[in-house]
Order: sequence, then structure tokens, then C-alpha cells
Amino acid sequence: MVLIGLMGSGKSTLGRQLASQAFFSGSFVDLDGLIVKEAGKSIPNIFAEEGEAVFRTLESICLAEVLQSSSEQVVATGGGAILSATNRVLMKEKGAVIWLDASPEILAERISGDKNRPLLNGVDPLEKMITLTKQRNPLYAEIADLRIDTGVLSDKEAVAKIMGFLSDYDA
Ligand code: S3P
Repeated sequence: MVLIGLMGSGKSTLGRQLASQAFFSGSFVDLDGLIVKEAGKSIPNIFAEEGEAVFRTLESICLAEVLQSSSEQVVATGGGAILSATNRVLMKEKGAVIWLDASPEILAERISGDKNRPLLNGVDPLEKMITLTKQRNPLYAEIADLRIDTGVLSDKEAVAKIMGFLSDYDA
């Protein structure tokens, strides 16, 4: 199962909670974490030293690598992983795609002050989230099997809803 959605939508937090369900036997991959491990440097440093295009290439390579696995796993992607059409096809082919969504106001509040997200450098978080919402929501919607509003649901409710959906999906 792949989690998609903007920065601050809860992909890593809910991803860990979902992976702890018996169905996934703890199998969780945080795509950003894998990129950092493979690049040997932090995301801000990849952006600063090599640029966003190199980051996007690494992101696509790591995604393809992770999605090769045939075992049940929860993959939390970075917010921009859906920008590549190839990535979108891969995710869609691989099984359930869950879109975690919340209003730009809520997302901006959750991520403001975060130094680990280079796209927020020197910009107003709310304006950025409004722009990204407009640009990316059509792409999230294009591949999502289920949209979850993490601005409204508690973590527990979101996990229950996703697990309920998966039990029908796999049946
Ligand atoms: C990005 C989101 C980040 C990370 C990078 C770029 C984006 O991941 O991949 O900073 O383009 O939205 P999170 O969505 O986990 O913050």
C-alpha cells in the first residue's frame, strides 16, 4: 500500500501506525528516509548541493526499488513523488493508493518552522500549501483509490478507515 499526499498530511505518522497492524507485520518504508540513506546526505543538502531535479531522480529510483517487493508493506512517499507520470503508473499498478489530505491551513500549521523541507525555504507556508494543493490535488486524485481527510479524522479513525477499505480491496 502506498500513501500519497502533501507535506504534513500525516503519511509518515499514519504509515507507521498502519504498518504495526498485523496485516503488514511491521513492514514500513519511508521513501524520504531511503533517499537520505542512499544519497548519504539530508534532503535539504541534496536540494542545496545538487538541486531538485537530482532529488526527483533519486526519488524515482528509490520508489521503483521499493515497489519491486512482493510482500505487503506500507510505503510513505514524499509529497512530490506523484509529479512523475512514471511514478504514478508504478504506484497505481502496485496496489492500493491512499491519499491523505487536509486543508492548506491545517497543513501549513503542521509544517511551519520545519527546517527539513526545502520547498518551504523563505516562503509563506500557507501560500505555498495553497499553490501546491492547486497543482497537485489533480495528480493525487488521478491515482488514489481512497481519500482520507486527516484534518477531520483522528489518527485512530483514519487507520480504522484505511484498514476497513483494505479488507474489502483485497477480498
Ligand atoms: C516534498 C516533500 C517532502 C520531501 C521533499 C519534497 C514535496 O516529503 O520529499 O522535501 O515536493 O512535496 P514529505 O511530503 O514527507 O514532507
